[in-house]
Amino acid sequence: MIDLAEVQPRTGDLTQPVFREARPSAQTEALAGEIRELKRQLNAVILAHNYQVPEIQDVADFVGDSLGLSQQAASTDADVIVFCGVHFMAETAKILNPGKLVLLPDLDAGCSLEASCPAPKLAELQATNPNFYTIAYINCSAAVKALSDVIVTSGNALKIVNAAPADKDLLFVPDENLGAWVMEQTGRPMTLWRGNCYAHVEFQREQILRARAAYPDAQIIVHPESLREVRELADVVCSTEKMITWCKTSPARRFVIVTESGIIHRMRKECPGKEFLCAPVFDVMRMPTDNCRCSECRYMKMNTLEKLRDCMARRAPHLDLPADIIARARLPIERMLEISARP
Ligand code: 13P
Ligand code: SF4
Repeated sequence: MIDLAEVQPRTGDLTQPVFREARPSAQTEALAGEIRELKRQLNAVILAHNYQVPEIQDVADFVGDSLGLSQQAASTDADVIVFCGVHFMAETAKILNPGKLVLLPDLDAGCSLEASCPAPKLAELQATNPNFYTIAYINCSAAVKALSDVIVTSGNALKIVNAAPADKDLLFVPDENLGAWVMEQTGRPMTLWRGNCYAHVEFQREQILRARAAYPDAQIIVHPESLREVRELADVVCSTEKMITWCKTSPARRFVIVTESGIIHRMRKECPGKEFLCAPVFDVMRMPTDNCRCSECRYMKMNTLEKLRDCMARRAPHLDLPADIIARARLPIERMLEISARP
């Protein structure tokens, strides 16, 4: 049990341990200039997830959440898509654009959720119940998407689960925490795959209680990949894009952000005058968190400005997928985009 009266705010810049602001330098500027020139030569579009480092966000054509990035990938008329995110995101762009070159700065940028759900294991589970309707969080491999009925992101999961056929047994893969939140919100029972985001499950209830006690005026904004005990303490639970909209429109001036720290860059740019603190504001032992990296996704942070320049200059690494996987994985992604667009 935590004695909240004992909580002492840590001094110094509370966002520093985990949040790195863009550091403009001659080298960064030169790299950004090279990237813009390569973009022109390739007729490329650069899509970046909200968790990318600030320097990449600043050179991208579009920065957003998984849903926004899929919608951009579906509608772009560029010849080349450069995807600054993780592997499954670039795969999704390739599935939607089989004829285009899709570049990824680092092919090893994986995801613990994707790794938790190998397609053969999913097929085994599906074989146990022919009435399963498989709903896959977009954080999964193309092979898993090919086995699924519909894809969701954290931004549209409630809408899509609400639209799922009533006579089916819903199977939700691979994030058990997002799945549990969706069940709570929709009332639809689902069988949950036991996967999680290694970064979001690091956030602990005690950390949020301490932040709440130290900053009672702050709103706590939590991503649904977090544990239930953390979600329960939130003022709002939502996708990264909705977090930005929430912070823009909320009358609050201070926010504790419980997701990957890369998103703070956009929040500061788009919400001037408001203050953003990265969780954990304190660690559980009340020690300074100077070495803490628990709100950084190690995969998202594999991409750097140098690697972005190099992949565009070399036109590699790029995504390649078997034609049959592309054909089967495209249907549930298109279903997602269609349901998302409904009023
Ligand atoms: P969203 O940006 O869609 O909320 O997803 C978060 C995430 O973990 C992506 O890997
Ligand atoms: Fe995967 Fe979590 Fe990283 Fe998102 S933050 S890419 S879910 S490991």
